[in-house]
Amino acid sequence: MTVREVNVAIIGAGLMGREVAAAIQRWPALVDHPVRPRLTAVCDIDVRAMDWFDRIESVTTKTTDYADLLADPAVDVVYVAVRHDLHERIYTDVIRAGKGLLAEKPFGIDVVAAEAIVDAMDEHPESFVRCSSEMPFFPGAQMAIDYVRSGALGRIVEARSSFLHSSDVDVRKPIGWKRQRAYCGEAGVMNDLGMHAWHVPLRLGWEPRSVYGVLQDIVSTRPDAHGAPAVCDTWDNAVLHCTAVHDGVEFPLTTETKRIAPGEKNTWVFEAIGLDGGVRFSSKNPKQVEIFATVDVPGTGVEQVWQRIDSGSQSVWPTVTGANFEFGFSDSILQMWAVYLAERDGALQMRFGAATPGEAVLTHRIFRAAIDSHEAGRAVDV
Ligand SMILES: NC(=O)c1ccc[n+]([C@@H]2O[C@H](COP(=O)([O-])OP(=O)(O)OC[C@H]3O[C@@H](n4cnc5c(N)ncnc54)[C@H](O)[C@@H]3O)[C@@H](O)[C@H]2O)c1
Repeated sequence: MTVREVNVAIIGAGLMGREVAAAIQRWPALVDHPVRPRLTAVCDIDVRAMDWFDRIESVTTKTTDYADLLADPAVDVVYVAVRHDLHERIYTDVIRAGKGLLAEKPFGIDVVAAEAIVDAMDEHPESFVRCSSEMPFFPGAQMAIDYVRSGALGRIVEARSSFLHSSDVDVRKPIGWKRQRAYCGEAGVMNDLGMHAWHVPLRLGWEPRSVYGVLQDIVSTRPDAHGAPAVCDTWDNAVLHCTAVHDGVEFPLTTETKRIAPGEKNTWVFEAIGLDGGVRFSSKNPKQVEIFATVDVPGTGVEQVWQRIDSGSQSVWPTVTGANFEFGFSDSILQMWAVYLAERDGALQMRFGAATPGEAVLTHRIFRAAIDSHEAGRAVDV
């Protein structure tokens, strides 16, 4: 098998820039992948943020101006992880330079920005673009998706998809760009966490017809760098009560994105219930999948049972990891990169792919409808 080398550059050497750089170093764990990425370059306006990358031998370029990376013919693919207000400009520049782009969510600060990015893609079809969303690559999430696709739910009753954080329960936590509308966007927590909650529902075809948004701005000031109170004007929590359709049947779909969910640390939850079956997965118990069934219990008779399965380590792209071992966040990042580079190479086949630009635009339309709904106090069509 011929393996094609792909040179990767990172713009934004913060939390996610480092996470992705580390995940790519585990590439040999993937079995028979057609592509071998090499992280060769990194860019950040803060020189100190790039110091960490000295530990990665293949990184030979460090720059504070991303134009240097875009002008380098040796760079094939760019991962961009910066503030939301910078997405449109940097993503469109990457696309117009003809590079592949794995773009961080929410894919532009709002729907106008997301559509401008898609317009640039239309002008440059040579640039293969996908949006970051790694949680569906947990094996338990994949099992839940396959369960729904199998038809095992029967007539659907309801579904829930949530992404829950507790990082903002501490009101003394400094403000930061993610808590300011100008940098994070009007959609607030939905811009931050919404793609996590919507990737799977949209992939299952559950595009909502209407949205009733319940949004909360719970903490209105936070300390700035000097400890003085600064305005914190983003939505902290958003619950969206939606109407979607599965197998021709309308059903209530609820998505939750919360920064203030006490006790939850990056918890991704997916649950779908039908008359014939049900499935639940939460990254809180990362190897446990629950399946609903009616079971003939010896000595008792027919009972309704939630059964538990340990999902093991294998996700969309096979790895050398023992099938019974555990899977974690950094594995999900590796899987997302495996499918991104495989799809760019034309080798994804029927596997579950990374979130598409079309799905990202749709999330922004849903967030807009949720804000309008919250303001009007009624459900709004998407
Ligand atoms: N997929 C996930 O699970 C996940 C998790 C966290 C954040 N994110 C997303 O990743 C993106 C970045 O978030 P983060 O938490 O890594 O942010 P961060 O603040 O930790 O890092 C952003 C970095 O970008 C740098 N930067 C700013 N302007 C720049 C420019 N013009 N050129 C180059 N670098 C520049 C900053 O100096 C900083 O080091 C956001 O879109 C966020 O929503 C995704």
